[in-house]
Amino acid sequence: MEINLKKIKAQALKDIQAIKDSKEWQKIEKKYFSRKSGELAKLLKDIKDVSEDLRPKLGALANEIKIEITNALAQKKADLDLQTESELEKDFIDVTLEIEKYKLGHLHPMTQVQYELEDIFKSMGFMILDGPELESDYYNFEALNIPSWHPARDMQDTFFIESKDKLVLRTHTSPVQVRAMQKYGAPFRGVVPGRCFRNEATDASHEHTFYQMEGLMIDKNISIANLIAVMKELLKGIFKRDVEVRLRPGYFPFVEPGFELDIKCLICGGKGCSVCKQTGWLELLPCGMVHPNVLKYGGIDPDKWSGFAFGLGTTRLVMMKYGIDDIRLLQSGDLRFLNQF
Ligand code: DAH
Repeated sequence: MEINLKKIKAQALKDIQAIKDSKEWQKIEKKYFSRKSGELAKLLKDIKDVSEDLRPKLGALANEIKIEITNALAQKKADLDLQTESELEKDFIDVTLEIEKYKLGHLHPMTQVQYELEDIFKSMGFMILDGPELESDYYNFEALNIPSWHPARDMQDTFFIESKDKLVLRTHTSPVQVRAMQKYGAPFRGVVPGRCFRNEATDASHEHTFYQMEGLMIDKNISIANLIAVMKELLKGIFKRDVEVRLRPGYFPFVEPGFELDIKCLICGGKGCSVCKQTGWLELLPCGMVHPNVLKYGGIDPDKWSGFAFGLGTTRLVMMKYGIDDIRLLQSGDLRFLNQF
């Protein structure tokens, strides 16, 4: 019996020494101290059957061993706790530290201004429309009262595609005027932001690719007063301050009468620079009353309806708004430029 007790003690201490984590610790504790199946519990039960003279000695020895195993287990537990603490320390994450920030992209200044314009027009009940960039000669010129012999075509030289439908890279967003009239009829209010193309010798203010926003409003009794009111609302929305403007007659085959709405150059303040061609003024908003022929092409009766149209040079507007003095920067893809917006 005595030998048995010592064997158990030796085995227990060996077991305890080999413990590596708290799971193993629990297993070993159970192995020796489980009330029903624990090694010590079994032994203590056996002691009852031992003869009375041997019982006190064996009982004392068993108790001693029990205490020794209990102490060894407690010691092991303390060691393990220390270990987990130091492991925790190693894994310590300071949640208050600033993390490295991801560099998010952002919208191109052209897109930012386009969205702003769309919001201004939506608030006035205009719908936002789209149209094809590869346009037919018919919609780009013919239906806008610019027949093939018309000298106005010379001002809008573009890239012609060899095809039987006579396709061109659209020179302006105006073709969507007739497309919209044919699709929606009258009354109508809409704007068309979009990309246009021309065969240009590029310089600080000319690009082969640029953006416009066409506007069209058709209703009963629309007059120049309505046109001016909407243009003023637009400029107020964009510049959020008073901008000096001037209105002068302008010729466009698809409007009658036609106007040029100019704004004072915001780059040089009117003194004259390369962007305003030394004039101090910038043509920003050509506009006018829709020509009866164009209404007819759109399937709208000019005796019943009238309307105004405008073609806002969005690219030029962006240059004004941000003081960009070279149009070519906008499509350069140069991040040093773009990251400023
Ligand atoms: N489409 C013309 C251009 O690109 C601009 C224009 C002028 C549009 C007068 C209009 C307008 O709607 O009424 O040069």
